Amino acid sequence: MPALAALCLTGLAQADEASQMARGKELFTTATPACALCHTLRDAGAEGAIGPVLDELQPEAARVARALQNGVGAMPSFKATLSEDDIAALALYVSRASRLK
Ligand code: HEC
Repeated sequence: MPALAALCLTGLAQADEASQMARGKELFTTATPACALCHTLRDAGAEGAIGPVLDELQPEAARVARALQNGVGAMPSFKATLSEDDIAALALYVSRASRLK
């Protein structure tokens, strides 16, 4: 039974991560204003040129979350428009997708 429970939990965690990745990718082009307007991220098909190229910056998830919470330089905070779950999904997605070759 413990082995089966562990298997189920692993399955759940993977499903959760997959849905966060999908949600993050969607938000990258649908958040207001869209990340894609200002950032290049190949996996999202984004070619914005106002902010740093995320494929090159390869920010850790915590750094993405901080930027979304507080804003940074010319980039607005998304605290008012994105839920904590949305910010977590974007943070995971951007940190992973920017490292894809
Ligand atoms: C209006 C344009 C604009 C939009 C929209 C925008 N950004 Fe940015 N972003 C910038 C600029 C400009 C910087 C660089 C700020 C600086 O370093 O002064 C930046 C920086 C960042 C950084 C690096 C933060 C750091 O710690 O150096 C990350 C990560 C990031 N943006 C992610 C996102 C994500 C994810 C979204 C969508 C939810 C988004 N950005 C939307 C313009 C934008």
